[in-house]
Amino acid sequence: MQGINQKVDLSILREKQVALSVKREDLIHPFISGNKYRKLKYNILEAKQRGLDTLLTFGGAYSNHIAATAYAGKLYGIETIGVIRGEELEQNWMQNPTLLKAHEHGMNFKFVSRTAYREKADRSFLEGLERDFGPHYMIPEGGTNLLAVKGCEEILTQEDKGFKVICSSVGTGGTLAGIINSSLDDQRIIGFPSLKGGFLKKDIRNFTAKENWKINTDYHFGGYAKVSEGLIKFINNFREKTNIPTDPIYTGKLLFGILELVKNDYFKPGTQILAIHSGGLQGIEGMNLVLKRKNLPLIEV
Ligand SMILES: Cc1ncc(COP(=O)(O)O)c(C=O)c1O
Repeated sequence: MQGINQKVDLSILREKQVALSVKREDLIHPFISGNKYRKLKYNILEAKQRGLDTLLTFGGAYSNHIAATAYAGKLYGIETIGVIRGEELEQNWMQNPTLLKAHEHGMNFKFVSRTAYREKADRSFLEGLERDFGPHYMIPEGGTNLLAVKGCEEILTQEDKGFKVICSSVGTGGTLAGIINSSLDDQRIIGFPSLKGGFLKKDIRNFTAKENWKINTDYHFGGYAKVSEGLIKFINNFREKTNIPTDPIYTGKLLFGILELVKNDYFKPGTQILAIHSGGLQGIEGMNLVLKRKNLPLIEV
């Protein structure tokens, strides 16, 4: 399963003589889209090989990873447990589109306080999960581990050799690490984090020994799941002009960042850029509920 590369035609690209294509990994599956498919693939094979028929993982209220894991469990006949940040959601998770769909796909939830969630790697917390749910295969928050990175190494293909710049969104850094590992030495990889914090480079270095990459921290819009009216307008406008939908948490920020850099002459004329569309579109519905409450423009779907 490979995402096709869609060429983007915008006047700013023509003016600056820069070519941009978007790898439509969002289209590889309706529910396990983009990097989620890549991250789950080898983990599910490993769980099956170990004879474990329950996947347990962690996420926030609108997590793409929770949505994808639930559907993957249904597809492969594996039980799924989502440990969800925020005990207040226990009362009203049915109003949350991501959790509702995950539940419909068979996921059971354990809601925990933010404090308990922060301690989710502690031994006593993990022992509690073992008592509650029995033997299970655990996938960390965001789905990043060694096998996830191995899956993300399959995003780039032979066809992508001609792109000298490859850009991707960054959360935990697993997707970027996979892309870096499978890139050629003459390709430059740029990661655009959608959260604040300087911890990422170290995390990425845990998964790659290559040096042909950098992180641009200018386009997180204030942090994870933070958006501005300008970003929403950009997402709607980009979709109208290119027919490519992007999500407000990851890929919208990525494309916004790339086009700002193009405007500011960051890329030399003649540069061919490939942007990885890592999916996340399922999160739009939930974000629109938040935007509506704040009286902000909605993301068109
Ligand atoms: C749609 C989307 N894009 C990008 C990312 C970032 O991936 P990573 O956590 O591997 O950096 C995520 C989070 O997993 C995501 O859901």
